Amino acid sequence: MQDLPSDRDALQALLDFHVEAGVDLALDETPHDRFAERKPEVAKPQPPKASPAQPAPSPRALPKAAASAPEEVAGMAREQARHAQSLEELEAILAGFDGCALKFSAKNLAFADGNPEGRVMLVGEAPGADEDRIGKPFMGRSGQLLDRMLATIGLDRSQVYVANIVPWRPPGNRTPTPQEIAICKPFIARQIELASPEFVLCLGGPAAQNLLGIKEGILRSRGRWFTYKTEDGREIKALPTLHPAYLLRQPLQKRLGWRDFQALKRALDGRE
Ligand code: URA
Repeated sequence: MQDLPSDRDALQALLDFHVEAGVDLALDETPHDRFAERKPEVAKPQPPKASPAQPAPSPRALPKAAASAPEEVAGMAREQARHAQSLEELEAILAGFDGCALKFSAKNLAFADGNPEGRVMLVGEAPGADEDRIGKPFMGRSGQLLDRMLATIGLDRSQVYVANIVPWRPPGNRTPTPQEIAICKPFIARQIELASPEFVLCLGGPAAQNLLGIKEGILRSRGRWFTYKTEDGREIKALPTLHPAYLLRQPLQKRLGWRDFQALKRALDGRE
């Protein structure tokens, strides 16, 4: 490792540089030179009747499941999620699931908040720093805006159920990868199935695209009703809307979000 600068200003500048680059958490006590680490051996073609192939060594510090092929892990996730007979069981299964590497950089599982008996379930993308620290979805600034938007239609967290497609925070709040989403998707699908809300509000493009299979962007799909189909064949009305984090960055778009919440209100009142 390179020598660290010894004076305070240089150390502060180095720290600022890391924070700006998105490095906002330490994964280990000591740094590792990943370039100096041995590459996993590539399995060579086996001659006929050779002894069984050895699995490639898994990357350090990750349990075997998190280092397996994403399709294989997604299969394991589906299998495990299907076994959950209640939301409590599902949370416990998810807490013990080692297939998603995000679990190992996150502080907490942010499984859900609010009332699982509520008529509306809101699904976001992934927890941020506040959610990771507290262990519940939508706890930070986005969550506060979400609460204000719910209040405009007379709802609060005690009446709605809130979750994310990915329940662990991606380091530095990066976007979850398609593999991470594919691995976590069976769990959110089972969570929706078990909560069985009347309405699902997809907060932002990733939730809409991954839950509803929509290809178009959120600015096109928002405000239109879709059908979410559970694995056991139920149909739930689903409405994509803009993510509160986007509305914090683009306050003029709040009027669109407001319209979507009004549409939800009409549906709740049986007027849509
Ligand atoms: N953004 C999300 O999508 N989910 C959260 O829980 C917080 C911010």
